[in-house]
Amino acid sequence: MLMLEPVTINDTDTVWKLRNDVATRRELGLGVISFSECLDWVANISEGKSNERLMVAKDDKLGIVGFATFRYDGDVAHVGVSIGSAFRGNGYGKQAIKLANEYSIGKGIKKLIAKISAENYKALFAFESAGYIDTGEVLITPNKKAHFVYEWKC
Ligand SMILES: CC(C)(COP(=O)(O)OP(=O)(O)OC[C@H]1O[C@@H](n2cnc3c(N)ncnc32)[C@H](O)[C@@H]1OP(=O)(O)O)[C@@H](O)C(=O)NCCC(=O)NCCS
Repeated sequence: MLMLEPVTINDTDTVWKLRNDVATRRELGLGVISFSECLDWVANISEGKSNERLMVAKDDKLGIVGFATFRYDGDVAHVGVSIGSAFRGNGYGKQAIKLANEYSIGKGIKKLIAKISAENYKALFAFESAGYIDTGEVLITPNKKAHFVYEWKC
């Protein structure tokens, strides 16, 4: 069974490894972050100093397999989900997205938004199968990559 739990400072090492997962960085176009950057990130969020939320996706047998992020912007929240490459293809991504949807109900948010690279077909499948709708909006990043905007109404 998978659960989403608020990150704690004790999760920093696991979150750091998941955040620097090579496959995840390639799919999200991210660089490596240092342990101290990750510690600052987790500390700011866990101490409530950020408008971002970070929830760890915890399997009851395997422990933390990924995480979900929420960045609040008025009555919408931008959501991101990452599952460690060793744990993919087992339904955790879809489950984590559905849990993120449930977590957002009753928090004054009208919709969750996910901006997903057009090339990231696994993420497109995962968000679609967790109930997200393609809004038809396409964003072009400064490095000319197309991102589709998906949404889930709370
Ligand atoms: C996107 C991501 C979260 C999916 O995690 P996952 O645990 O592998 O996904 P799931 O096993 O739950 O699969 C979700 C859906 O994608 C499909 N899928 C997963 N892997 C696939 C693959 N290799 N080929 C084709 N389809 C695939 C599954 O069929 C499933 O759909 P279904 O349940 O309707 O059959 C994971 O690849 C990831 O963390 N990627 C890096 C971060 C990222 O891109 N996040 C999304 C943008 S924020």
